Amino acid sequence: MRVIDTLAEMQQQADQWRREGLRIGFVPTMGYFHEGHLALMRHARTLADKTVISIFVNPTQFGPNEDFEAYPRDMDRDLELARGVGVDVVFAPTVDQMYPPGFQTYVQVEEVTRPLCGRSRPGHFRGVATVVAKLFQVVKPHVAVFGQKDYQQLLTIRRMVEDLAMDVQVVGHPIVREADGLAMSSRNTYLSEEDRRDALLLSRSLEEARRLVSKGERNGEVILGAVRRILASGPRVRIDYAELRDAETLEPVQHLEGPTLLALAAHVGRARLIDNTVLEP
Ligand code: PAJ
Repeated sequence: MRVIDTLAEMQQQADQWRREGLRIGFVPTMGYFHEGHLALMRHARTLADKTVISIFVNPTQFGPNEDFEAYPRDMDRDLELARGVGVDVVFAPTVDQMYPPGFQTYVQVEEVTRPLCGRSRPGHFRGVATVVAKLFQVVKPHVAVFGQKDYQQLLTIRRMVEDLAMDVQVVGHPIVREADGLAMSSRNTYLSEEDRRDALLLSRSLEEARRLVSKGERNGEVILGAVRRILASGPRVRIDYAELRDAETLEPVQHLEGPTLLALAAHVGRARLIDNTVLEP
């Protein structure tokens, strides 16, 4: 496994593989790996000849009062885990490489970034789209894998790739969960034991919503009422949003007809957690 930390070297490696007719698979990450990240890497390996992952905690997607400085980092452990999965190249650029002095070009995806996390984290998706666009320019992947845990991020990247005619296939991967249902996240390390118990209510409430829909419930307010009641039973949970939206356009949904995203964000202790499921009436 090769570790590359400059844009020029990464581009040369990508060009060489492309000349050899090899297909490049890519998984962008911010590191501090858990099984969710590793599942994306394993999936990328099945889709390509060479697998590149990036580790870059991207400052432009964090708000001024968010956890950029505190975001967990462990490069040595991450490299070991990536090697174990069979990754070919870890691309780990510095902030200066990605955002050199004078940097002033950003990618703004409009409609799909407005609701949900776009509302609570202004500028977040502009940072995400910008860094992913730049990473695509450097890694030159044929296919890139993103987790459905960050559902709105996946839709944003799909929109950007379509709108800017980027020659990359975007593949979504299902949410990877702990045995008890908690969606894996690097931010779960912020949770105390008590927080961790309350954090389970997110996935529990999604399960309850799925159960209601399978019994025939189609009224959005009824479903959200049940979800909010479950979340409110956890004293450490502070809901940011719990919403039903069209799974493709993210338009609000009152009455379930087609595939509907149930998206949650909540503060639990020091952590801000997100989770979601697509309800299929
Ligand atoms: P990060 O949070 O490190 O996540 C990297 C990738 O792993 C994303 O595609 C995310 O959706 C996926 N992922 C995280 N937890 C997951 C889980 N429990 N199940 C399935 N997939 C999961 O997302 C980012 O980094 C950044 O915004 C990035 C795209 C790298 C741009 O900076």
